[in-house]
Amino acid sequence: MHTIKINFEKKVNNDQIEQAAKILNEGGIVAFPTETVYGLGGDALNPIAVEKIFAAKGRPQDNPLIIHVADDDMSRFVQTIPEKAKELMDKFWPGPLTVILKKTSLVPSETSGGLDSIGVRKPSNPIALALIKALGRPIAAPSANLSGKPSPTTFERCVEDLSGRVDMIIGDGQSILGLESTIVDYSVSPPRLLRPGYITFEELIEVDKTMVYDEEGTRVGDDEAPKAPGMKYRHYAPKAPMTIILGDKDDVIKKMVDLVSEATKKDLRIGVLAPDERKSLYDEFVTFISLGAEQDSRAMGRNLFEGLRQCDDMDVDVIFAEGIEEAGIGKAVMNRLKKASGFQIIEV
Ligand code: TXA
Ligand code: MG
Repeated sequence: MHTIKINFEKKVNNDQIEQAAKILNEGGIVAFPTETVYGLGGDALNPIAVEKIFAAKGRPQDNPLIIHVADDDMSRFVQTIPEKAKELMDKFWPGPLTVILKKTSLVPSETSGGLDSIGVRKPSNPIALALIKALGRPIAAPSANLSGKPSPTTFERCVEDLSGRVDMIIGDGQSILGLESTIVDYSVSPPRLLRPGYITFEELIEVDKTMVYDEEGTRVGDDEAPKAPGMKYRHYAPKAPMTIILGDKDDVIKKMVDLVSEATKKDLRIGVLAPDERKSLYDEFVTFISLGAEQDSRAMGRNLFEGLRQCDDMDVDVIFAEGIEEAGIGKAVMNRLKKASGFQIIEV
């Protein structure tokens, strides 16, 4: 398949949006930027387009898609919206929040992976919004990675994964957030936080005190089927085994340096994921992936998936990652990091 590739780099070109919308309208699939991660989109109401998304990603068909909307009138797609869910949408949309609601029959079961509920999100990226408006229907889109890889946060990573597999790839530089949306499930009572993200649990319970979050019970994440007992699909893991080091800062730094020096003696190629401030501790033989300035959990979120992909590119044998405090956005960052490590954690 020939893939049309356009990198806007922040400047929206309406002719090209129209071209992309035409492809979607005819049942084609288009990778496009959002503020969280890149999405792989198709017409949410067209089962053939939706099937193409699953095929292009190599994604199991019982793993439901999120539909992306551009206006607040969702009455055609979802049944009643609980008041607190509405409040959350008013507060955080457009933005990185997905709300799961009971769907109407207009949304094909292919899109919802056979479930009677559907995740809805209004993204804030102007290209994403322009594309949804130009199509005039919601765009169903999972993250634009091949199944089993981290979500792409750049145009180049989308091209790497999807060139030849989709009709078009639209770029807009690096995703400004870099972690997938916060998912809350209002198809159940009490509502549950299923996937932590930039909208934090603390912010959610400010609006809805009844919201629950049970990290162990709800391991929904990238490319995992929901509501499955345990983990049905393997989440993304880098090629090399990764260990996260947690604890007091000085102890963690010392432990990481020790582990790296032991691995060096074994002639292993080593990847280190840590704040920029640690770079000087390691020599040039270590693949040092900076996750941004210390204390900047936003930068960590933005750089994490790209850093994991770089470890794969460098073919390292082992990866050591410095953990951060699980508060606020740190909860989302650690959720992705822990999954990528297969929950391999050393506490010092
Ligand atoms: O930020 C995002 O959410 C990105 C961008 C492209 O919008 N999308 C994204 O989609 O991360 P995806 O498909 O990679 O992750 C959506 C997750 C999956 O784990 C899926 O199982 C879960 O949401 N999910 C979707 N619909 C659901 C439903 N009705 N009930 C429970 N979980 C659901
Ligand atoms: Mg995904």
